[in-house]
Amino acid sequence: MEGEVSLKNWYEELQVLEDESRPLSPKERLRAGNAPLLAWFRRHARVLPWRERPEAYRVWISEIMLQQTRVEAVKPYYERFLAECPDARALAEVPDDRLMKLWEGLGYYNRARNLKKAAQIVCERHGGELPASYEELLALPGIGSYTAGAIASIAYGIAVPAVDGNVLRVISRVLLSREDVLKASVKKSMEVLLSETMPQDEPGNYNQALMEIGAMVCIPNGAPKCEECPLASLCLAHRQHAEQQVPVKMPKKARRKELRTVLVLEGVDGIHVALRKRADSGLLAGLYELPNFDGKLEREEMLREAGISQTDVVSVQPLPEAKHIFSHVEWHMTGYFVKVQAVPEAYLWVEKQKLQTEYGLPSAFAAYRKWL
Ligand code: ADE
Ligand code: SF4
Repeated sequence: MEGEVSLKNWYEELQVLEDESRPLSPKERLRAGNAPLLAWFRRHARVLPWRERPEAYRVWISEIMLQQTRVEAVKPYYERFLAECPDARALAEVPDDRLMKLWEGLGYYNRARNLKKAAQIVCERHGGELPASYEELLALPGIGSYTAGAIASIAYGIAVPAVDGNVLRVISRVLLSREDVLKASVKKSMEVLLSETMPQDEPGNYNQALMEIGAMVCIPNGAPKCEECPLASLCLAHRQHAEQQVPVKMPKKARRKELRTVLVLEGVDGIHVALRKRADSGLLAGLYELPNFDGKLEREEMLREAGISQTDVVSVQPLPEAKHIFSHVEWHMTGYFVKVQAVPEAYLWVEKQKLQTEYGLPSAFAAYRKWL
């Protein structure tokens, strides 16, 4: 077939290019793959309902559904959803329980709620049509760089990349990049690289070609089908038999667990409570906090750590345990409600009323707020 011949020619030209001169730079390598990828996609693209009529709204719904479920499983949901909510206006007005029913089985119900929220914004601010701008798409609830890129490129022909897990895998292999693809910074630099190398005239087909290669050829589990891949002659992982070594995904570091004892320290007047200001660097830098101490402390230890003398104590009442998760640390907290005659100088002595307005406590202490 003719297509076959022209594809073969592409490969041979590329081979010559690399044998006779210096190795290709990453950008050159990616650009060299553009034409073979598009040629492959023209022949092998699956026929999918949102590909036949790539209107922005239809692309959007399909991409959100495809984030959690394979193409085959999405199809029936997609048809049912589009029949009931054919455009942003219908979606903006669909009752919540109906929306949940339409989404039932797909999971991640927040995605459905964000769809409706975004549809309402689209109706209020964009006349019912998804905006033809990457930045404006990105500003909508539930739309991240991948989805904004997919809608902008597929529906509107805007030359921006759409990097999902499939694309990260394919590009990491082609360039034999051993950077951790779970890092946001690695995804970001891949988006920058692709935006500089992707074909400006067919961005939608190009992005879908990369996704499709990732889904059908350069597959994640087991060996990729390199013998069918239009990028094989360019692909560094394939050349070095390292396909299975990339992409690299570093396991997330376990969070450090810290035991802490938190005090709601109240004056006999019932109006004032003790606060502290945190150091200007580190966790919760510069914010106000309830007095809290390292470890799970017993009553006497707690009073000693807090610098409260026994004679000042009016009452001590234990509070329930609570947990707060920061990005790298978990606080496992225990608490005490302590009523005192006089407060040690180490603390700020503030009116409870002003907690809302002037001292906004970090949400780490939310579990103890109701005793304030
Ligand atoms: N996976 C997610 N979106 C896709 C698309 N538009 N084409 C192929 N695979 C996909
Ligand atoms: Fe993936 Fe193999 Fe194609 Fe390289 S040659 S992109 S490893 S399928």
